[in-house]
Amino acid sequence: MKGDIGEGKMLYQRLCVTCHGPQGEGDWPFGSNLAPPAARLNVPATRLKPDAELLSAIKEGNSRHGDAVNQTSTL
Ligand code: HEC
Repeated sequence: MKGDIGEGKMLYQRLCVTCHGPQGEGDWPFGSNLAPPAARLNVPATRLKPDAELLSAIKEGNSRHGDAVNQTSTL
């Protein structure tokens, strides 16, 4: 898979920031009020996970994440 950092950043800001925060800190108001709260994406425990695992968490996740993210078909 070829990444496009510019497009990725744009998508992140549009689709992910509300829950995960601008730096992936996971404490943005909406995300931190969820149960479980939005994952912290900027910590080693998350960053060291294999891409495939993260991708499946993003696209499928548990029902909560899947519903939130699959409101779009762009991913
Ligand atoms: C509606 C709020 C919400 C939105 C929007 C959202 N997330 Fe999440 N995310 C969560 C929650 C809550 C969790 C933790 C629970 C879970 O795994 O479903 C999570 C977990 C994750 C994980 C798993 C981290 C781990 O440690 O395994 C990744 C990766 C992730 N999100 C990436 C994204 C990306 C990329 C986007 C944008 C395309 C996004 N999320 C949009 C709420 C959200």
